[in-house]
Amino acid sequence: MNLTLTDKTVLVTGANRGIGQALVQEALRRGAGHVYAAARQRVVHTDERVAPVLLDITDRAQIDTAAQEISRLDLLVNNAGIGRYDDLSDRAALEEHLAVNLFGPYDVIHAFLPALTAAGGAVVNLLSIASLAALPIIPSYSVSKAAAFSLTQNLRPLLAAHGVSIHGVLVGPTDTEMSRGFEVPKVSPEHAANAIFDGVEAGSDEIFPHPMLEAAAESWKAGEIKSLERQFATFVEQGAIAS
Ligand SMILES: NC(=O)c1ccc[n+]([C@@H]2O[C@H](COP(=O)([O-])OP(=O)(O)OC[C@H]3O[C@@H](n4cnc5c(N)ncnc54)[C@H](OP(=O)(O)O)[C@@H]3O)[C@@H](O)[C@H]2O)c1
Repeated sequence: MNLTLTDKTVLVTGANRGIGQALVQEALRRGAGHVYAAARQRVVHTDERVAPVLLDITDRAQIDTAAQEISRLDLLVNNAGIGRYDDLSDRAALEEHLAVNLFGPYDVIHAFLPALTAAGGAVVNLLSIASLAALPIIPSYSVSKAAAFSLTQNLRPLLAAHGVSIHGVLVGPTDTEMSRGFEVPKVSPEHAANAIFDGVEAGSDEIFPHPMLEAAAESWKAGEIKSLERQFATFVEQGAIAS
């Protein structure tokens, strides 16, 4: 796709607050033609380009209804997520993180794939630096975001076959409700949103929207693991599946 947001149709999950709310504003600032603000509550916005969508990303019926109602979509931003402190002693906590942070984006992507394919569109998954380096004060969250990173990597060549690109955002500490009480240098949600759409418009596979992560970004992009990911992706392109 032409990756600039001008006149594009964008859907952001978890659009009612935090980074999601900032992404809606940034998409509008960049000239998006239509922005679906998807959230568990109805989002009220003064800009007539914004349309609210009721969407709990763990609710398959709501996802299907939203996908039926939205036939045109250029950019799907999987922003909604949860992050709770735990110690991996409670299986239910891990399941809850996986339900929202892994299976939520998985289901939303599949529901909107026909519209994204028709548009030659793109998916943006908000992951975390904890996808790469485990953050054991929130281990269930780390596991779920590592799985969502792998989902993003695995989908890259599979979606490319549909003409759809996918971008993973390795979000660093950002000043929202989620990171409240975690006292480290944080960027604003507006800074993160701006860096995320800069990365999408630049066509970056991975986007690191925190200055603290510049060195990690450079070593990741030039590193052996990224090179292996590209090599492994060619197995899909070659159809190299044992029969
Ligand atoms: N803030 C950080 O430091 C940081 C760091 C790394 C990654 N991230 C990632 O960035 C993304 C945005 O986080 P944030 O900082 O903006 O967090 P936030 O302020 O806590 O907002 C989370 C958003 O996700 C929504 N959400 C949660 N469960 C949902 C569900 N089942 N269905 C639909 N929406 C749901 C929330 O909606 P409700 O209002 O209805 O709860 C809210 O809109 C997340 O994926 C997060 O993991 C954030």
